[in-house]
Amino acid sequence: MCGIFGYVGKKEAKPLLIEGLENLEYRGYDSAGIAISTNKGIKIVKRAGKVEELKKALKEENIDGSVGIAHTRWATHGLPSELNAHPHTDVLKSVTLVHNGIIENYLELKNEFNLKTQTESDTEIIAGLIAIMPEKNNLEKLKSVVKLLKGSYALAIIFSNEPECIYLAKKESPLMVGKSEDDIFISSDANAFKKYCSDFYILKNNEFAKIKYNNIEFFNKNKKINKKTNKFLNTFAFENKNKYLMQDEIAQTPDALKETAIFFENFKDIKNYFKNIDKIYLVACGTAYHSCLFGKKYLEFLNVPIFTEIASEFKYSKHLFTKNTLCIFVSQSGETADTIACVKKCKCKTLAITNVPNSSITFACKKTILMKAGWERAVASTKAYSCQLLIFYLLKCLLKDEKPKIKTLIRQSKQYLNSLNLTQLAKKVATFEKVMFIGRQDDYITAKEGALKLKEISYINCTACPSGELKHGTLALVDENTLIILISTKNNLISKNLLTKEEIEARGGKCLILGNFENADIKLPKLSADLMPILSILPLQVLACEVCILKGYNPDKPRNLSKSVTVE
Ligand code: M6R
Repeated sequence: MCGIFGYVGKKEAKPLLIEGLENLEYRGYDSAGIAISTNKGIKIVKRAGKVEELKKALKEENIDGSVGIAHTRWATHGLPSELNAHPHTDVLKSVTLVHNGIIENYLELKNEFNLKTQTESDTEIIAGLIAIMPEKNNLEKLKSVVKLLKGSYALAIIFSNEPECIYLAKKESPLMVGKSEDDIFISSDANAFKKYCSDFYILKNNEFAKIKYNNIEFFNKNKKINKKTNKFLNTFAFENKNKYLMQDEIAQTPDALKETAIFFENFKDIKNYFKNIDKIYLVACGTAYHSCLFGKKYLEFLNVPIFTEIASEFKYSKHLFTKNTLCIFVSQSGETADTIACVKKCKCKTLAITNVPNSSITFACKKTILMKAGWERAVASTKAYSCQLLIFYLLKCLLKDEKPKIKTLIRQSKQYLNSLNLTQLAKKVATFEKVMFIGRQDDYITAKEGALKLKEISYINCTACPSGELKHGTLALVDENTLIILISTKNNLISKNLLTKEEIEARGGKCLILGNFENADIKLPKLSADLMPILSILPLQVLACEVCILKGYNPDKPRNLSKSVTVE
């Protein structure tokens, strides 16, 4: 949530900052702004709305300079207005900063230090506090202020008395520094400067940096420190050829599965970590939580109790951890605050399954399995979900000493995606205000994920219900304005599912079947039951994306959401 970008070098900062923000826009798109050190002082331009609005505004502005900071916002405190957009300053404009995170005690600090503010944001008080600190040195001022802050922050700051430098501070929210021969980049996500740098640094909690041309100094609370650089992993060049990222990302699924399966070879030692475990908790949010529901099914053969929990609930519940309890945390981004907060309470074995190397969850957990889905930027998670299911399947095979059968999966998913044409169906779905997804067993989990996908980008009211449970209450909602999408991939359940369809139609509801048998409305190919969930979600992702576009929305940037939810 919120993306920070910065540049120090010899080039014009403006286009680089804009490019950086465009790369980070998946983290929030309520407003955007930049601040550049020019020879007439620090100039700030900000706009409400997407980076595109800022870009338009900047066409008319002459702000030349080679040191700058930028921000794309997901609003937490205050409306997504130009006023509340970052960068923020103190009253005298001696401190200009961008912030990702939340300052929980900002009101207390505002009152305690009698700070005058102009915006509704929690960030502005940080600038105000730094400006009134008595220390002479800017780094010391910054260190004093962060001691007062409760919450999370990644900060990039320009001081008007040191306009050639950018200062950084980090706690909980991610912050990376990339270095090439002549340029230094700052970003919430290293992918945003990957094009320019091969090496990058990752700031840890309570670390600081002072950056000026060709020079980066790192500090902890007490002293200057040396830090090791990280290299980007070799990544597969995923194809982008559609208008929207979500379309590309769904189409990239077969390659993402293949890359993930190959890369899994590096994690085979994890088998030892499963020795003697007494129970497993699978914890995540949203789509990643749905993959945990499948994870439980894949790992059930271990004959130990397995619990699946939504991270924001897990945090507040009681659990019996022993040294042999294993908690598995699934997160595409590796930065989801709710999930990371759970890792901290687990005094037991912890394993992260994530798509992002060096993300916060990889540092928090004792072990990590990385997927190789490639950069996922559309807010609706698609290819990463498929890879999460694949990881659970591969884990099962590894622990059972079975040979995974994924060649067919990859071939079938490619052929299937190429042959899918859901445009007519999408037109029909787009006319409904209520859509219910139902299924039994694995298909119920797919129903949950299908409902989440459609609702988050099309704003249609979607729910999921186990087919057999309908008649125990939810059937009351069914009328001629309700569309039911019934998922049916289990041979032994087809007749029961057809009965459910009749019960729905008898109440005036419309029912479409997604299944792997002749009369299904959306046909799935035959595949082993183990791998079917990886395939059966594909048409629901495509359908959601098509409905969204037909309704005139942008699937990559649904309202109110952010790809990386870094606040609890
Ligand atoms: O990055 P994570 O996997 O931890 O994200 C978890 C959820 O926020 C995420 O899956 C969300 O539900 C997606 N927007 C669903 O498409």
